[in-house]
This record gives sequence, C-alpha cells and structure tokens, in this order.
Amino acid sequence: MQKDALIIRPGRPLEGSIEIKGAKNSVLKLMAATLLASGTHTIENVPKIADVAIMSDLLRSMGVTVSEIVDGCLTIIVPAENEVTPRAPYELVEKIRASIVVLGPLVARYHRCEVSMPGGDDFGHRPIDFHLNALEALGASFETSHGYVSAATPGLLGTRVVLEFPSHTATDNVLMASVLAKGTTVIENAAREPEIIDLADMLNEMGARISGAGTSRIEVQGVDELKPAHHRAISDRVEAATMAAAVALAGGNVTLVGAPSIYMDMVLEKLGVIGLTITVTSDGLSVACSERLHATDVATLPYPGVATDYKPFIVSMLSVAEGVSIVTENLFSGRFKYVDELRRMGADIRTEGHHAVIRGVPRLSGAQVKGTDIRAAAALALAGLAADGETILTGASHIERGYEDFPGRLRAVGADIERL
Ligand code: EPU
Repeated sequence: MQKDALIIRPGRPLEGSIEIKGAKNSVLKLMAATLLASGTHTIENVPKIADVAIMSDLLRSMGVTVSEIVDGCLTIIVPAENEVTPRAPYELVEKIRASIVVLGPLVARYHRCEVSMPGGDDFGHRPIDFHLNALEALGASFETSHGYVSAATPGLLGTRVVLEFPSHTATDNVLMASVLAKGTTVIENAAREPEIIDLADMLNEMGARISGAGTSRIEVQGVDELKPAHHRAISDRVEAATMAAAVALAGGNVTLVGAPSIYMDMVLEKLGVIGLTITVTSDGLSVACSERLHATDVATLPYPGVATDYKPFIVSMLSVAEGVSIVTENLFSGRFKYVDELRRMGADIRTEGHHAVIRGVPRLSGAQVKGTDIRAAAALALAGLAADGETILTGASHIERGYEDFPGRLRAVGADIERL
C-alpha cells in the first residue's frame, strides 16, 4: 500500500461549515507577478498546499526570499534586478506545470530567461505555443534546446495580440509581460476567468494600467516600473464546488464560508439541477441535499462556462444520479482517464472520444482506486462517500497539491475520511 493513501467510508450526512481557502490558480500567478518589482510583497489568503510550496521553491531558486505561510499570509522579497537569476529549472517546472507563468514576468523585466519546457499532464497533451506566439508578438525571441526555452528581448513593445484560444495561463503570461512593455497592448480573445481579474487587480495595485480584465479584450498601457504588492487573493471557486459535491454525495447541509458565488453562476445552476439546494448567504453559500441526485447533461467550456476542473466531481455525482447523463469535455483530451477508476467502484459510464454517457446507479461500491491528478483524485475520494464499504484511494498526495487539509476539513463536518 502506498503511503499517500486515503481511506473513505460512507457515513452520516455532513453538517457544519467549511471555510473556503484562497484560489490556487490565482495565488500561483500572483506569486509569479512579484518578479515584476523589487521589494517586499505580501499576499494574503494563501492556501497551505503543495503547489504553493513548489512555486515558493521556484522563486527561491531564482534568489527571491519567500516566507512560510503564517495565518494565510505569504511575504515575498524580490531583490534588485541584477540579483535575480531568471531561470526556472527542470526539477521544479516538472513538478508544477503552472510554473510556466514565470515566463511573462521574466521576459518583461529581466529581458532574458531560461525556462524548462513543461511536460504533459496526466489528462493530456499541454503545449505552450499560444504563450510563445503571444510573447513573440510583443518582441521576445525564443530558442528551444536541451529541454529549455531561452528567451531574449531588447525590451517588449506593446501590440495587438490575438489568442487562438482563450487559454488561462497564456493570458496570465501576456498580461504580466505587457504591463512593462512600451506603449499599448491589446489582448483579444483573452481568458475571462475570475483569477485573471484577481491578477489584473494586483498588478494595478502595483502601478500597472490594465482595463478590461474579465472580458475577452484586455487593454494595457505599459509603465516603466512597478512597486511591490499587498494583495488578498480571491477564494477558490473550484474548492467551493468540490465541497458542494461532497454534500451532494454524502447528503447534509453545509455552509461554505467565503465561497465566491459571484464567479460560480453556471456551476451553481448545474448543481441545482443535479439536486442540491443552494442559497447564497452574506458570507458564502449554503448547500443542502437530502434526496437522490438527478441526471443532467454538462459540457465544459472556458469561463463563464462550466470549468473542466469541476467535471470530475460532476461525473462522480452523476454516477449515482437517477437517469442518464452526457458529459462532454471540450478542453483537455485525456480528462476522462479517471473514469476507469470510477467504473471499478461500480459506476456505469461509457466514454466515446470527448463524451461520457453516465447511467446512474443507486450506490457505488467501495474499492481500491488510484488518483492521477488533483481534481480526479478529489473526485474519487468524494465518490467514496456514496459507496458501500471502504474506498482506498492511492495517489492521494495529488489532492494536497490543490487542497489544504482535504481529509481534515471534510472530517470536521462529519465525513469518514482519513489518511492511511
Ligand atoms: N493550449 C494549447 N496551447 C497553449 C496553451 C493551451 O493548445 O499554448 C490548449 C490546451 O492544450 C487546452 C486548452 O488550450 O486544450 C486550454 O488550456 P489552458 O491554457 O486554458 O489551460 P491552462 O492555462 O494550462 C488553467 C488551469 C487549469 C485549468 C485550465 C482550464 C492554472 C495553473 N491551470 O490551465 O487548472 O484546468 O486552465 O480552465 O491556472 C487545476 O487547477 O487542476 C488545473 C489543471
């Protein structure tokens, strides 16, 4: 048995409240953005997760001082420009694909850098051509050799960048590069995710001049210099949806304190159709479920559509829903791999290309299953709440990459889930 395993048993309905932590996919970019200004930066609402620890190590490897997280607060001290080593080594990039977001700030401020090429992910091929094409349009040139992308520029110049697809991290990279480019940059077909708005807010607090973040057209007036940030990250909509799915699968009534409901319209609508009673409260969301779930069809899309990150939980829920559902994945080719594990738990799911047909069964059956990425592992753990007998989830350390104390926080509302 692997050390990083969780054991999950079905139990009583969940009751109480869960505090939703800061958004992983915001905090990692905010950390990269500190490279744009020397001095002491403070980021609040930082979750204690493995990806933040790896991103901290990556910044440290460049000569940046990164504190431990104290009460959700991270202090980052970026030294003078000539004391930063603009290099992201393979050993760290290989552990966290999101580290590609250091490329934009490094090119913009240090005018040269070397970043290891990120590999694929368990859920498919993940190229970086959109990032490189967009940064090239701003005046960077790239060479790829020995697994590294080397970038150089005499200084970036603002221009109109049209993204082929509203890629989240490509938008992050162009945004962070353009704030120090000379003149005006317009990013067309930009990603509209709430975490992009958060990044733009922090950059504006640092002195950048960005408008339109959260729409598909972002305009940036370049400035010569930025000052250090003091920023509070938004809360994690994916974590909030994960905890709502836990309530759907175990039953109960839980308040998700701090859940960013304004950024969750589409997923909340789907969760309502599936059978959750959701109330937006002054401090977050209240979610309750007391009956069998209902089937529905779901297709993943870039924000404001239903995010691909929600899909594994949705599939777990639909596995035990009354009726037949069709789930379509439009972003990542391999993001149905974990379905084989759900089948081992008795789910009746047939996949065909990027579609899954799910015939709901009344209960799943606890089994030994393996998680292979953050969301898939969390979704399998939650499926264990609706399965008879014990579910043993190996590969559970993937969950720690994106969720602070996942088993402990679920246990606090009554779930029977613990580390082996
Ligand atoms: N794509 C390209 N070329 C590129 C970039 C993307 O072909 O240069 C393709 C991808 O292969 C994919 C699509 O474009 O088919 C969309 O990918 P996107 O670039 O938007 O994804 P990402 O920026 O790499 C972020 C999140 C993911 C989340 C996706 C989709 C971060 C660090 N990661 O990835 O989050 O699934 O957007 O919303 O922000 C997670 O949190 O577990 C996670 C994987």
